[in-house]
Amino acid sequence: MPDHAMTKPSTRTPKRTARRKPRPARQPLTAATADRHDLYTAAVQNVAAEIDFVDQTYKTLRGQYATRLREDFCGTAQTCAEWVRRRPGNVAVGLDLDEPTLQWGREKVMSRLTEEQQARVILKNRDVRDPGRKARDMDLILAMNFSSNALMARSDMLAYFKAIRKSLAPGGLFIMDCYGGSESLLEQEERRACKGFTYVWDQVHYNPIDATLDTAIHFEFKDGTSIRNAFTYHWRLWTLAELRDVLADAGFARSTVYWEGDDGKGGGDGVFKPAARGDACASWIAYIVAEID
Ligand SMILES: C[S@@+](CC[C@H](N)C(=O)[O-])C[C@H]1O[C@@H](n2cnc3c(N)ncnc32)[C@H](O)[C@@H]1O
Repeated sequence: MPDHAMTKPSTRTPKRTARRKPRPARQPLTAATADRHDLYTAAVQNVAAEIDFVDQTYKTLRGQYATRLREDFCGTAQTCAEWVRRRPGNVAVGLDLDEPTLQWGREKVMSRLTEEQQARVILKNRDVRDPGRKARDMDLILAMNFSSNALMARSDMLAYFKAIRKSLAPGGLFIMDCYGGSESLLEQEERRACKGFTYVWDQVHYNPIDATLDTAIHFEFKDGTSIRNAFTYHWRLWTLAELRDVLADAGFARSTVYWEGDDGKGGGDGVFKPAARGDACASWIAYIVAEID
């Protein structure tokens, strides 16, 4: 995933107790011992920051907190888990096409929730364009980490946005992120050190004729081993303007771009605000917030 999408989650230091048993020493990560979903979660996702943003945006626009959230392209459903942990009344629905990934989420993510929290999550193996009855009446529908770029044709994106419109409760919001800038068109690798491994974002090939971008995520370890192509994506690199046009055609009343502020050192400050004008940064991420009424 583009690097600016990732802010490290804050870490909490557990309280020390005098008689705590010493933990077994952690084995260094290697290609043989690491799990690609764990590495993805650590390197790419920051669901707490994501939920902070969507929760606050809904509260600001609607004057109250949302309760029903759908995570489209949910993968291992980390966002669903974070949503039900936030407040006792919160309910989450996750949709993804890939059964092994959903199963990993059930075993490794859902299992860390209490039984009561698990009862407030529904995970479905479904195409986001055909979400089903249980995925309706949503206050918030999210498509994050640029996942809607998997929909290549305009007709696919239109079908998706129409399905979202039908799935939103009155006052509901659809929020997606978008990646762009001159660097998004370059064939290049970006490396970032993470705890125990290096994360590599590889923009393998960009085709200017149909705006498709082939990308891959690799992981490298201190012992010299690596997991190449741990995840690969075939995207269409949609622009904000194109996406907003399709949203309007799908019947959304309004869409607003939330643009990131400047940290004064050439980077983003992590604060996204409604904007009509952005800067031509080398790379940027932005959110679109779409409203049906
Ligand atoms: C980049 S992962 C996103 C994981 C996670 N939500 C995140 O924010 O990092 C994209 C996911 O979209 C799923 N996917 C792709 N096309 C889909 C579709 N049409 N309907 C449902 N899921 C889809 C893939 O199976 C994959 O798990």
